[in-house]
Amino acid sequence: MQTDVFARNPVLRGYWYAVAQSIDVAPGPLAVTVLGEPLVLWRTTDGVLTAARDCCPHREAPLSLGRVVESGLQCPYHGWTFGASGVCVRIPSAPPARAVPPTARLTPVHATERYGLAWVSLDAPVADIPAMAYDGDPRFRRLNTPVEVWRVSATRMADNFMDIAHVPWVHTGTFGRAQPPEVPPLTLEPLDDTFYGYRYTIEANNPDAATVTSGSQAPVVTRWMTTGFALPFTTRSTICYATGLEHVLLLLTTPFDDVTSYFTFVVWRNEDCAVPADEVIAFDRRIGREDQAMLERIPGVLSLDVAATASVQADRPSLAWRRQFAALLQGAA
Ligand code: FES
Ligand SMILES: [Fe+2]
Repeated sequence: MQTDVFARNPVLRGYWYAVAQSIDVAPGPLAVTVLGEPLVLWRTTDGVLTAARDCCPHREAPLSLGRVVESGLQCPYHGWTFGASGVCVRIPSAPPARAVPPTARLTPVHATERYGLAWVSLDAPVADIPAMAYDGDPRFRRLNTPVEVWRVSATRMADNFMDIAHVPWVHTGTFGRAQPPEVPPLTLEPLDDTFYGYRYTIEANNPDAATVTSGSQAPVVTRWMTTGFALPFTTRSTICYATGLEHVLLLLTTPFDDVTSYFTFVVWRNEDCAVPADEVIAFDRRIGREDQAMLERIPGVLSLDVAATASVQADRPSLAWRRQFAALLQGAA
C-alpha cells in the first residue's frame, strides 16, 4: 500500500465530508474541493442543497464561476443552465425546439445538510454522518464556526486531535499550562456506537479569556473528558465541568487533497443561551489556531506505517486511529 498519499484512495469517496456552513450556500454557487476533486454547491430555488462536479459537460468550464438563476445553475461560458436533477434545461445557442443532447448533464455528487453544515459524499455513502445525540436535545444549544482551510494533511490533524501529550507544549497560550506533561495510561474503548477513544481527567488552565467557555472564574478547572474518533477523520471531545456544564466538540476534517484540509468544529452546550455564541467559541478557536500553527510547520502526509515514526505509550490513541485508518484504506476496516 502506498502510504504517502491517501486522497485518491476510492474507499474514502463513500464517506460524508463537511465542506461549508449551510449559511455559506445561499444560494451559491460555491466551489469546494474534496479528495482532489473540484465540486460546485448551490441551492435550487426551493432551497435544496445540490452538488456536482465543477465541470460543465459542454466545454468543461467551472460552473462555480456561473450563477444560480430561476431555472437552475447557469454556466458562465455559454449560458447552458442545469436544473435540480443536473439535466440541462436551457441551451441559449440552440433553437428552443432542438432536443438537448443526452450527454448535457452534470455529474451529481451526494449532498445533504446536518448540524448547520453542508456535507458531500463523492460516491454512494457507505456510512452515515457521525451521530450526535446532543443535536436536537432541548437541553443543548448548537454553535457553529466558520470552515477554515489548513495547510495540513488530514492525517496529521486526525493524529493531533487524538493526542493529549502536546497540550502542555502547544496550548500554553490557552488551557495547557496547568497540566503535568506525563500522560497516564489511557484505555481505548468504544465510547458509544459511533466513537472509539478514551476517558480522562485534566486540570485546565482557565485564563480570563476562557471563563465564558468554562463557566468558572477559578484559575484552574477540572475537565472530565472523553475523546474519540469515527473514521475516517472525525473526532469528538466531551467535557464535563464540576458545575454540571457540558461542552461537546465535534472536530471535522475534510481532505481538500493529501496535504490541505478544511476544518470546522461544532459545539453543543447545556447552558442558558444568554451569552453570544461568538464569545463562547472564541476560546476554542484560539486553541485551534495553536494546533494549526504547529501542524502547518510539518510538511507532507503522516505515514500510515506506524513503524515509520517513533511512538510511546502516550501515543496509543493516535496510533489506534492510524492503524484503523490504514486498515480502512486497505478495505479491511
Ligand atoms: S462550457 Fe458551459 S456552457 Fe459551454
Ligand atoms: Fe491541540
